[in-house]
Amino acid sequence: MTPPTLPMKAVSTLSDLRAQVSEWKAEGLRVGFVPTMGALHEGHLALVRQALRASDRVVVSIFVNPAQFAEGEDFDSYPRTLEDDAAKLVRTGAQLIYTPTGRVMYPNGFATEVHMGGPAKGLESEARPHFFHGVALVVSKLFNQIRPDIAVFGEKDYQQLMVIRRMTMDLDLNVEILAGETVREADGLALSSRNAYLSPDDRRRAGHLNVILSEFAEQLRAGMRAYEAEAAAVSKARHAFDSVDYVTVRHAETLEPLPDGPVSHPARVLAAVKAGTTRLIDNMAV
Ligand code: PAF
Repeated sequence: MTPPTLPMKAVSTLSDLRAQVSEWKAEGLRVGFVPTMGALHEGHLALVRQALRASDRVVVSIFVNPAQFAEGEDFDSYPRTLEDDAAKLVRTGAQLIYTPTGRVMYPNGFATEVHMGGPAKGLESEARPHFFHGVALVVSKLFNQIRPDIAVFGEKDYQQLMVIRRMTMDLDLNVEILAGETVREADGLALSSRNAYLSPDDRRRAGHLNVILSEFAEQLRAGMRAYEAEAAAVSKARHAFDSVDYVTVRHAETLEPLPDGPVSHPARVLAAVKAGTTRLIDNMAV
């Protein structure tokens, strides 16, 4: 088991990363991995703790991945708080922080794309068509660089979790994917690095998303027809927020739309709305 006092190391190059991970593997240790874009909050730290419980050594990557941002999105303004993040990771007990540069991840001449179908279709991809290709690209690279035994992804980004599971199976990446439960504020707002963008009024309204999804899931569990429950949830979301990208119920694994009628498959309700200029996403099991 991990000694609690083991100091955290920091590496930025592929050779340093591989030297450390190879050393652990030679000792027969199980390596866990939590990929992040930094601006760490309690939700990320819960994923790190889960990885620590499931492995002997944990690598946390911090890389704001340009491939998953489109022109005009918040790549430049995305919060970058490396010192603070490193201090949080030391306190949480991670053993290695990996902060590759853009050049390490995407060297000159880089020309490979990972194109995702299946669970990547629809939902987030309607508003952000480039997004899952960029996520799949960086995560497949990180898996190849680190070769972890397990990796933990938050259920907060549920579609991303399903995309990563699909990609890992399809490309035989041999990494066990664990799902981390969403961590919420007292009013139910799911923790997200982008919550930092919310004005006080938008922050107050943001808590309604959790209420709308809880009621939606509850109505489906009680046997209400999928389309009727969805229409009610969409109408509440339109009332509470400035715009609504989707509020819907999908098959819990494939994320395919469900037929109308009472829900009989394992299902998930998912939503994306805007409070002011901040996009909020959330989801819940039915
Ligand atoms: O969920 C995130 O923070 C990112 O999409 C990830 C998985 C770190 C890939 O850049």
